[in-house]
Amino acid sequence: MKFFIDSADVPKIREAWEWGIVDGVTTNPSHVAKTGRKHMDVYREICDIVDGPISLETITTTAKEMIEEGRALAKVHKNVVVKIVNTKEGLKAVKALSSEGIKTNVTVTFSPLQALLAAKVGANYISPFVGRLDAIGHIGMDCVRQIRQIYDNYGFETEILTAAVRHPLHVLEAALIGSDVCTMSFEVLEQLYHHPLTDIGIDIFLKDWAKVPKA
Ligand code: E4P
Repeated sequence: MKFFIDSADVPKIREAWEWGIVDGVTTNPSHVAKTGRKHMDVYREICDIVDGPISLETITTTAKEMIEEGRALAKVHKNVVVKIVNTKEGLKAVKALSSEGIKTNVTVTFSPLQALLAAKVGANYISPFVGRLDAIGHIGMDCVRQIRQIYDNYGFETEILTAAVRHPLHVLEAALIGSDVCTMSFEVLEQLYHHPLTDIGIDIFLKDWAKVPKA
């Protein structure tokens, strides 16, 4: 399973990229707003750091506007994936951009049927928001599980990009289900490294090694 970092924070993206476990980046308008910086500056810096798929989101609402915006975003760098919301207009734009060879990530997705529609128009990635489903009392990972089954039933090549991940258990479940990608915050990525038994085990080894006679 590929790991993407879900952020527009350039220093955090740089640090996570150096860990060697990150395969790509997903940004969204909220992440960009948090930086307080001009979006194109942020996007160019991310593209300079990460050699992998980088999702940049359109912020228009009609297919015509999204197609124009998508074309402009795709020109920023060869690794750009145009992120488009899962609406009728959005999916029309995905169909058009796909036919031009521009990669797309269909976002703000909450049901397997929405994911089926996105696959039918040739989306490269589908982003189900599991944490937001959990927050309203639905099991977000059930959505990922059903998307996996539908895509496998019909041989769709759209990659499942589990998103709105809140904790390591979401990552574990995504991997068990066979999600192609899981995007997560810097903080969740960091949590994946931690295990108290590893810390204790290292401590024991170092203390024991200190007792070994030195030559
Ligand atoms: C995914 O690509 C989105 O940017 C993201 O996961 C949205 O999730 P949030 O609920 O953490 O904002």
